[in-house]
Amino acid sequence: MANSTTKKVFIITGANRGLGQAFVEELIKEPSNYIISISRSRTKDQALYDSSRFHLLEIDLSEENLDSKLSVLKNLIDRQEVYFINNASIILPIVKIENLTYEDIERTLAVNITAATLIVKFIIRHFKTNAHSFVNISSGAAHRAISNWSLYCSSKAFMDIFFKAAQVEYPNYRFYSIDPGVIDTAMQESIRDSDFPEVTNFQNLKKDGKLKSAATAASEILKTIL
Ligand SMILES: NC(=O)c1ccc[n+]([C@@H]2O[C@H](COP(=O)([O-])OP(=O)(O)OC[C@H]3O[C@@H](n4cnc5c(N)ncnc54)[C@H](OP(=O)(O)O)[C@@H]3O)[C@@H](O)[C@H]2O)c1
Repeated sequence: MANSTTKKVFIITGANRGLGQAFVEELIKEPSNYIISISRSRTKDQALYDSSRFHLLEIDLSEENLDSKLSVLKNLIDRQEVYFINNASIILPIVKIENLTYEDIERTLAVNITAATLIVKFIIRHFKTNAHSFVNISSGAAHRAISNWSLYCSSKAFMDIFFKAAQVEYPNYRFYSIDPGVIDTAMQESIRDSDFPEVTNFQNLKKDGKLKSAATAASEILKTIL
């Protein structure tokens, strides 16, 4: 639980690997930060963090009843400044639209859209007197259509405009959508291993050493929002 020394609370989805893990590794360095990871698991390091600094809210974001599972947040956060980083996202399967299954569509929309919008809603509704910053981890794919990425591109575009609408509704809070650039994570690995027209471009980015580390991407984003 956040305590009297906590100044800022960071709620991060998908904080067990990739960019989300890098956010935690950077934020834990500041003793007055309290981190809530909404993820399906935690890293070995995260298991060792003191409970006054780090809490795992173990949730599969593709499942239903997210609203009721989020109610724990009311016991963890008091009047502190709250940052929500909407980081978890899925890109697979990378296939043509005709090959998408109902489950593919449901899972991608659940994780990339429904879960994110429900968490934003929950925070706004239940922490009315806190200061809030909402950070959507966007992508170039929100603005550039890529063949075989239809669900990923469109869900990223949805969240961008959702955050813009939220900013208009709640001018007292800060809403960011930030494209982190191309990062060396498991997501890029699965892109390189997929079959789609632009795959060579992504394989070349890795071959040419053009991928950003997750640590660099996380610290760039934190410089912008803090
Ligand atoms: N990598 C890039 O080049 C790149 C470029 C632009 C934007 N981005 C964006 O950056 C963000 C982070 O990407 P990344 O590269 O770090 O991706 P990643 O390595 O694939 O990690 C994705 C994260 O999302 C979590 N997640 C997926 N499905 C989940 C579910 N059902 N419930 C809970 N958590 C779930 C994963 O947890 P599990 O371990 O439980 O699956 C993992 O922590 C994403 O929003 C992505 O769109 C990435």
